[in-house]
Amino acid sequence: MPLKSKFKSHLFHALELLSRNQGDNLYHFLQNLFFEKDLDHKISSSFNTYKIVEQVTEKNGIKIQDKVIVEIGSGWLPLMPYFFKYMGKASQVISYDLNKHYQKKNIKKLNQTFSQNFDKLIKVSEKSEFPLPEGVAYFPKTDITNHDIFGADIIFSRFVLEHVEPEMIREMHLKFKKDLNPGSYIIHLISPSDHRAYSDKKLSLQDFLRFSKEEWNQVQTRFDYHNRLRLPQYLDIFKDLNYDIVDLTYDKPSVDSENYRKFKKLTLHEDFDGYTDEELMAGSINLVLKV
Ligand SMILES: C[S@@+](CC[C@H](N)C(=O)[O-])C[C@H]1O[C@@H](n2cnc3c(N)ncnc32)[C@H](O)[C@@H]1O
Repeated sequence: MPLKSKFKSHLFHALELLSRNQGDNLYHFLQNLFFEKDLDHKISSSFNTYKIVEQVTEKNGIKIQDKVIVEIGSGWLPLMPYFFKYMGKASQVISYDLNKHYQKKNIKKLNQTFSQNFDKLIKVSEKSEFPLPEGVAYFPKTDITNHDIFGADIIFSRFVLEHVEPEMIREMHLKFKKDLNPGSYIIHLISPSDHRAYSDKKLSLQDFLRFSKEEWNQVQTRFDYHNRLRLPQYLDIFKDLNYDIVDLTYDKPSVDSENYRKFKKLTLHEDFDGYTDEELMAGSINLVLKV
């Protein structure tokens, strides 16, 4: 295992030994240490995501302009809200997160960089605790499952669902069914791969499928929780709740690829018996649900 991955894994396990509050604070502090270096990369990666969202919405006749968008999982920066507002001309973007990761200084820096890179004038709302533009609202320390989201036209998430326990995904979507008007849309971008493989190139993107649930729970921590759900399992949750799956795309590694070779070397745990290789390897899932 490369030093960086080993360090990260040891660090997360050490943080878990602290009280929940202390662990969260230290995690937050350490993540912030690496913030500035990553800003340009984060902006360009979110811009790429926004281009995917544009393609998906255009293909399905979903309008962003003048719509109210709700984001699940704000993360560290309001990047997708800015793209929805400044590129998509959404009327309002409301972002929710269980944690409170935004920081004034980081958002100021983002405002500066975003406005330079995309030639946009960012008019900051005086009312907000953070220097966010008018029309962008942030609800930290809020579980979207317990919050009213009446009136949203589109619910959006990026790299969130894979970190949510399956039963919570069900509960969340049961609630969306109740709160949203028929005809509203939910767009999820899901990364179902083993995230350890992004920093440890020797690992297969499906390496974690070798483990039983108990073994995997020894490897992961609450800071890098991954539910390991496979594509058909996500689809079953949404079908059971009577959602209309209006669009679905995902990566299918070719049999000549290095990813496929690494995958075929794995001995998978029996929990993953009965799925096809394509179902097990489905990556970068983009999903549109209609209420
Ligand atoms: C991996 S981060 C992704 C953040 C961001 N969307 C991005 O693309 O960088 C996942 C975030 O989802 C948040 N989250 C998970 N479940 C949630 C829930 N039920 N309500 C609100 N936020 C949630 C977590 O707190 C975490 O900050």
